[in-house]
Amino acid sequence: MVKFLESLLAVAIIGGAVVSGNTIKAECGKDVGKCPENKPCCSQYSQCGIGAYCLGGCDSKFSFKLESCVPAPVCQNKATTFESGIDSVVSIYEYLGDASKADWVAEGKPVAWDGKLLLTMPPDSVGTVLSSTHYVWYGRVSATMKTSRGAGVVSAFILFSGVKDEIDFEWVGVNLHNVQSNYYFQGIPVYTNGGNHTVDGGSTYDEYHTYDIDWTPDSITWHVDGKVIRTKYKKDTWNEETKNYDFPQTPSRVQLSLWPGGLPTNAEGTIEWAGGVIDWNHPDVKEAGYYYATVKELKIECYDPPADAKKKGSKSYIYGDESGLESSVIISDKPYILKSFLGSGTDLDKEPPKSTTTSNGGSQPTDVVETIPGNNGGGTSTHDIIETGGNTDNSTSGNTDTGSGDTTTTQKVGFTQDSTGDAFKVKGSMMAVAVAIAGLVIV
Ligand SMILES: *[C@@H]1O[C@H](CO)[C@@H](O)[C@H](O)[C@H]1NC(C)=O
Ligand SMILES: *[C@@H]1O[C@H](CO)[C@@H](O)[C@H](O)[C@H]1NC(C)=O
Repeated sequence: MVKFLESLLAVAIIGGAVVSGNTIKAECGKDVGKCPENKPCCSQYSQCGIGAYCLGGCDSKFSFKLESCVPAPVCQNKATTFESGIDSVVSIYEYLGDASKADWVAEGKPVAWDGKLLLTMPPDSVGTVLSSTHYVWYGRVSATMKTSRGAGVVSAFILFSGVKDEIDFEWVGVNLHNVQSNYYFQGIPVYTNGGNHTVDGGSTYDEYHTYDIDWTPDSITWHVDGKVIRTKYKKDTWNEETKNYDFPQTPSRVQLSLWPGGLPTNAEGTIEWAGGVIDWNHPDVKEAGYYYATVKELKIECYDPPADAKKKGSKSYIYGDESGLESSVIISDKPYILKSFLGSGTDLDKEPPKSTTTSNGGSQPTDVVETIPGNNGGGTSTHDIIETGGNTDNSTSGNTDTGSGDTTTTQKVGFTQDSTGDAFKVKGSMMAVAVAIAGLVIV
């Protein structure tokens, strides 16, 4: 197994963080451009690497080539319970893309407890993310779960695509009778798409509720305990300027996460949105050793792809062009399992590295290229809309690597309070996660 520290990422993040407190450096994405050939894959967190960077969450649009990302396993109907443990979950450090061997990939620390899976967030960590190994290109996904609680603690259940289309359920730990809904098109931040909904019955922490996202080519419907709480139609998302529908429309992974929106190092808006600064001495942490969300059952029901979908096979989704629109998706027979963490979509069979043992006994990677994105967990990217441009201030990059074309980016988060229509802007949630990751790496 290859584990290289994300030292470059850490340097970049800290460089930005020290100066402005709410910027990190995206290595790939809109306005930043594509990843270079030696680290061709653009991760969910907008960083470049190989190996696991080219698997789940890989952004074809901003990778070196469209084909750099490993093809995405097609949707598979699935019901996961954890009554006999969490063997259906594999660590991101061990997963090379064989979706037949695992239903979920974990970053962070999932724990088996009493026939359930706990998403945990120990003190000073960035929590846990669980991602489906198969993608969904329309379907109904469902989670029966209890959220975490406490100021600054965010639980999430989302759909997230390679090109950053996204559909969300989110809970902040100070509103245990509410759930927020949201969606994004290609990661473009729009502050008016969020919803805030009451959850009837017991609190989201005390009681299991079932949350469903029903996603078709024409609409998204959010359900709580079988009751529709919101519907968004594609026809209402027409963008006259771009002549596109700003509607999630590309194959997506199902993701669940627990992450610290209330880290003191986060942007003020993020902390405020998350309900305040996180308290690592919270009773839940004292009792269990971590904050936790409790997952009882997960379901994926696949719908048919769009009637006019391009079919050249039945095994994997790939992109045929860079538009990132529904029409660019092709169903292919291309394989999707890597031989090692040095592989990518254009070289699935790349052999594992020969370990070079130095005279002092240490193992010294000669070629430091990141192979595992997000490192030790991290929030979902969700709300983590990365906005580049407009804020490209060269002077804030305190990092030492010189890569030309590097751009400092601002992370933004947003939703609207349905009842008032007031846009309540929140900034920097991705930064929260990124700073936390950097902290863990440096320590
Ligand atoms: C940043 O640096 C690039 C390359 O040196 C330069 O072209 C650009 O104008 C600079 N941008 C700002 C905002 O200073
Ligand atoms: C959602 O609504 C609840 C109850 O009205 C409120 O306390 C909470 O602040 C709202 N959350 C957001 C993000 O608007």
